[in-house]
Amino acid sequence: MLFKPWQLAAVISSAAIATSASSPIEQDFAPEDIISRDVCILGGGGSGTYAAIRLKDSNHSVVVVERNDYLGGHAETFYLDDEKQFINYGVEGVFNDDLSKEYLERLGVSWDSLALSTLIDKYVDFNTGKEVLPPSDLLTTVVGAALYRLAIQKYTTLDQGVYNLPDPVPEELLEPFSKFVEEHALQGVLRLVLMFAQNVGNILDAPLLYIIQNFGVPHINALLEGGYITPKNGIAELYDSAAKVLGNDVLFQTTAIETNRSDSGVSILVENHADGSRKLIKAKKLLITFPPLLESLKGFDLDTKETGLFEKWNWMSYHVAIVNNTGIPSGITVGNADPNNGPASLPHTPFQWELEYLGVPGYLASKIIANSSVTGDDAKNLVISDIKRMGAVGTFDVPADGPNIVQFGSHSPETLIVSTDNIRNGFYKNLYSLQGRHSTFYTGLTFCTDYSSVLWAYTNTVIEKMFS
Ligand SMILES: Cc1cc2nc3c(=O)[nH]c(=O)nc-3n(C[C@H](O)[C@H](O)[C@H](O)COP(=O)(O)OP(=O)(O)OC[C@H]3O[C@@H](n4cnc5c(N)ncnc54)[C@H](O)[C@@H]3O)c2cc1C
Ligand SMILES: *[C@@H]1O[C@H](CO)[C@@H](O)[C@H](O)[C@H]1NC(C)=O
Ligand SMILES: *[C@@H]1O[C@H](CO)[C@@H](O)[C@H](O)[C@H]1NC(C)=O
Ligand SMILES: *[C@@H]1O[C@H](CO)[C@@H](O)[C@H](O)[C@H]1NC(C)=O
Ligand SMILES: *[C@@H]1O[C@H](CO)[C@@H](O)[C@H](O)[C@H]1NC(C)=O
Repeated sequence: MLFKPWQLAAVISSAAIATSASSPIEQDFAPEDIISRDVCILGGGGSGTYAAIRLKDSNHSVVVVERNDYLGGHAETFYLDDEKQFINYGVEGVFNDDLSKEYLERLGVSWDSLALSTLIDKYVDFNTGKEVLPPSDLLTTVVGAALYRLAIQKYTTLDQGVYNLPDPVPEELLEPFSKFVEEHALQGVLRLVLMFAQNVGNILDAPLLYIIQNFGVPHINALLEGGYITPKNGIAELYDSAAKVLGNDVLFQTTAIETNRSDSGVSILVENHADGSRKLIKAKKLLITFPPLLESLKGFDLDTKETGLFEKWNWMSYHVAIVNNTGIPSGITVGNADPNNGPASLPHTPFQWELEYLGVPGYLASKIIANSSVTGDDAKNLVISDIKRMGAVGTFDVPADGPNIVQFGSHSPETLIVSTDNIRNGFYKNLYSLQGRHSTFYTGLTFCTDYSSVLWAYTNTVIEKMFS
């Protein structure tokens, strides 16, 4: 058979994309329901959206498979009726660094600087509802952060937010953070650590490694040096803009239900859970961006190495709420402090970190952290009962019909961790060795510190590996 040059090009490019000669499953799909791309990205949150834009801008074709009906994942904005006021009740801002600014510029989003408010106006013991004294030995943010940076800076391999651990793993990283706090007299820094690492839960009990991963050198440098920025019209603006750029390359309300992966490419069956329709994706590479828990990977052709790693995760539940009708005077932030719990009166799980004033009078935002068995309803009940208790003991004049939960969201699973034995036995080294196997790559908060700017930088390194 003879091909004209232009026909030849067409044959070559379709051969390059088809991963195996027309597999039986393709016959079940109309041509328009078979999507051929360079990269299929599972999850269109912080890192998946970034990867999609970057890949598209370097002329790779992509498709994003997102479970929700919006992009952004942990980034959510509540717009009040006037559309002028808003509350970012998930992600509030990103680091003021070159990479982040370039990305926002690429998406045509202008920004303001974001002053991270470390100010707590009142401390209340949420267990009793009563106001308590501020923890006594609090250091200022600048002094505290500098002291803490000095204590952790010897772990230079963790500076990129990646679990790049020395071999063998230093025992100190596996010991409870409480020990490190005592040795380095960091009691006065604990409320600051909680602000960044509250998703860890009981921070004093957690291994030092997970504290540094959530509040390490990149975070301190952003706090003390570069600062933070946030889109002028809410964090959702960033993701709405990305959604426009990506257009039909995003499949919303869709998840992967079956995969076949090999070194030459991947074949992914996806289902829209709104209308039940199915499509077949054929891609050269797969990028998984959500936490790879076994229950999130049903129908995937996992091998024993993958299963052996993914079955080891523990995680925290993490919910967010916006409340009003609380009776708490407008404009104040109420911190949760348990005077019975050691230095800094840290709250114990399950807890609301604080009722945080984010600039819209009458509304407070809350983050609820608990172990993985705590549900959304449990978290809602905690919010309501904590505030009602403050009313019952007269701390605030909580209306009889209050408070109201105006917005609520689940960010579970959060804070993916494994046991210290697993860390000691090379869990993270084995985890990263999965990158590229079966044409499958990973990014997201499981693989790198849970902060957008650092995740974007890590995602760049993963993309580089994909086509090297
Ligand atoms: C309440 C809160 C506040 C935060 N504030 C900040 C902040 O101010 N600054 C900051 O830098 N970081 C903040 N973070 C951290 C934030 O998680 C990261 O910045 C970043 O957004 C994480 O990106 P990701 O891609 O790993 O996860 P996500 O953004 O969660 O993205 C994962 C995506 O995958 C989707 N998904 C899940 N399962 C499936 C499935 N089976 N199929 C298809 N799609 C699926 C999800 O819907 C989601 O869109 C905050 C986190 C939380 C929870
Ligand atoms: C992508 O393709 C366009 C149009 O062919 C070209 O102008 C651009 O330089 C390419 N970009 C990259 C990063 O290769
Ligand atoms: C995966 O391969 C099996 C066995 O060949 C086949 O039955 C199935 O349809 C394939 N699924 C996808 C999504 O390619
Ligand atoms: C609470 O917020 C909702 C949504 O913005 C609003 O409709 C309601 O009037 C508010 N209630 C109070 C008491 O402010
Ligand atoms: C999880 O937290 C709930 C609520 O505090 C508690 O009842 C339960 O025992 C905890 N589960 C585990 C496994 O710790």
